[in-house]
Amino acid sequence: MTNNHAKTSRLPGFYRHDLPRRLDLIRHAAELSDEAARHLEGGGGITPNVADVLSENVIATHGLPLSVAVNFRVNGRDVLVPMAVEEPSVVAAASNAARIARLCGGFTGDADAPVMTAQVQLDGVPDPHLAEALVAANKEALLARGDGAIPSMVARGGGCRDLEVRVLCPDTGVVVVDVYVDVRDAMGANIVDSVAEAMAPHVQELIGGDVGLRILTNLPLRRLVRVSVRLSLDPVGGRDLAEGIVRASRFAELDGRRAVTHNKGIMNGIDAVAVALGQDWRSIEAGAHAFAGMGDGYRPLATWRIDDDDRLVGELVMPMAVGTVGGSTRAHGGVRAAFEIIGIRDAGELGVVIAAAGLASNLAALRALAGEGIQEGHMRLHHRKAAVTREQAEAEARAGSRG
Ligand code: MEV
Repeated sequence: MTNNHAKTSRLPGFYRHDLPRRLDLIRHAAELSDEAARHLEGGGGITPNVADVLSENVIATHGLPLSVAVNFRVNGRDVLVPMAVEEPSVVAAASNAARIARLCGGFTGDADAPVMTAQVQLDGVPDPHLAEALVAANKEALLARGDGAIPSMVARGGGCRDLEVRVLCPDTGVVVVDVYVDVRDAMGANIVDSVAEAMAPHVQELIGGDVGLRILTNLPLRRLVRVSVRLSLDPVGGRDLAEGIVRASRFAELDGRRAVTHNKGIMNGIDAVAVALGQDWRSIEAGAHAFAGMGDGYRPLATWRIDDDDRLVGELVMPMAVGTVGGSTRAHGGVRAAFEIIGIRDAGELGVVIAAAGLASNLAALRALAGEGIQEGHMRLHHRKAAVTREQAEAEARAGSRG
């Protein structure tokens, strides 16, 4: 795993440069390998041959812009954040919010141990409550069976940590065993699926019934990330705007319909980084919305308050199943390059940076909504892009007429 933390992620006027100059700046700031730089110079995507290996029935490849969000400071370190997204203003908004955040020290956060959850379903268990006791009494032996299915993960320091039994329907004997597996730096789906399949016959031997599904849950409740930011009111745009952000947060806390859109704004940042880094963004999405729906109604993943010291405080908590190994993290040259750009050390750190991108996106959205409204910023960006494109075209035309 690369660990080239950017010396600085503050690259003023980055957006004003042309694409080759931006790539050059990132190459130096992230100390990219020649292989990564060459790959990005060549477009950064995948060849049809690689695509053919990654998926089925392939006929071509499908491209997205690969951008870098600047200004991010997370847990006291500068980090350049790759984002793959087609929606205009996601990258600019995240970079702008990160610039405000870094004036106040940036984002801080932490991640739980990388523990995923496997589920083993049994139906028709004759005595579900006795089953609970039997599984609990044989916990260590069952965990050892699970570990037996994933020796290389155990050798890397991971493995089965715990299990819980839940009786879902006493009448029909539906029982589920949730198995908690430390997957180290992997996202972990294949690992926990192997554990579930290996453990199922032993559970059945103990408690009877018919084995049903053996699969991970995409709601990894023991793999949460928490990120926060604490901002002076001036850089946010003053007290009125900060209070507007708090009111927007309250709206989302009170109304599920608003919370969905609030969370969509968070996922704008999270998905963009996840896609750039070859993560299973569908699983992150599934976990995020399920988590948001766990309490009393559907809730915002991030909330905002002004504290007693007159600081605007934003906090985000959500499940985060991401990995720095496995999946498509190594097959895709653009993903390898994106890992060099972000320069993180492990899956926990990756989860925190991804969540920081989500909180930054949320801050940018609420700041725009509470202030001038979202369209104003979108249109400004649109006009700026058009102006930059025009300037470039004119410069190229002038260079052409001289040559
Ligand atoms: C648009 O992609 C995202 C927003 O709708 C998020 C929000 O309303 O908080 C602007």
